[in-house]
Amino acid sequence: MKVTASAPAKINLQLSVGGLRADGYHDLVTVYQALDLKDEVSLTERADGMGIQCISLGEFNSGVPSDDTNLAVRAARLVADQVGVSCDLSIEITKRIPVAAGLAGGSADAAAALVAAAELYGYGGNLQLLAAQLGSDIGFSFLGGTALGTSRGEVVVPVMSRGEYWWVIMSASNGLSTPRVYQKLDQLRDEGAVKEPMQMQPKQELLQALLSGSANQLATQLTNDLQPAALAIAPKLQRVIDAAMDDGALAALVAGSGPTCVALVKDYEHALDVAARISGQNVASRVLISRAPASGAEIVSIERG
Ligand code: C5P
Repeated sequence: MKVTASAPAKINLQLSVGGLRADGYHDLVTVYQALDLKDEVSLTERADGMGIQCISLGEFNSGVPSDDTNLAVRAARLVADQVGVSCDLSIEITKRIPVAAGLAGGSADAAAALVAAAELYGYGGNLQLLAAQLGSDIGFSFLGGTALGTSRGEVVVPVMSRGEYWWVIMSASNGLSTPRVYQKLDQLRDEGAVKEPMQMQPKQELLQALLSGSANQLATQLTNDLQPAALAIAPKLQRVIDAAMDDGALAALVAGSGPTCVALVKDYEHALDVAARISGQNVASRVLISRAPASGAEIVSIERG
């Protein structure tokens, strides 16, 4: 049997980062939005005792691990463990989401693998709980849409959002390590260069903008506490943000821990226009267009051998 599932990349419309916790994570209040930029994960059963073989295909497959550090491998194994079967699978990941980009591509692979493995093994338990065990953003990739994330980001509840939003996604050639960006933020705060968060709550104005469905209103409410840290490590990202604003974007900011930058635009036509201009400026290694909010992890196909 072969099961294929997809799961979306995310951006953070609000990313408020609290203090460092004893477990090494930071408390977050974040508003996630899922992009229609999705990875696909196929799980194919292999003969007993053959174990797991994992390969990555697609435009952004370079640097994706094939061993147990791959979150999709860990997710499939976790579901097999819950059911009490040995995990003998061929795992194929089609990477459309840039890697180490701040878009939670690895988390999307885990969310897709959880859904596919649950189908394959007939697991009926709570996948959201398994997602939270594997990583901070996986619960959201599983849920999709627009959602409020708290604790370290793994506790997610849907947020009301009207209409659709168009984003221009500007990738960088080098990835940024998420732990490094969080550490940089702690350092900047210790030095007094960046303020501690004033309040750890969802911004009411942001939630109202999402209810209004107005991209113009949403554009005034986007915040990312990790942006100063990402810019301190990779100052060139400011050029990407400036270029997007010069090219007519409504707002532009670093996506999560970066280095991808995202620009909110009015509609599809505007997205094409801004993306074409940015592509001509040589500031981003790759420019994509994406619509949001998109659905969470879901089964794409089931083939019975
Ligand atoms: O949970 P995940 O594996 O995605 O997190 C990657 C790293 O990002 C963590 O090891 C931690 O260094 C940092 N992080 C954090 N606080 C969070 C989420 C992630 O410090 N809320």
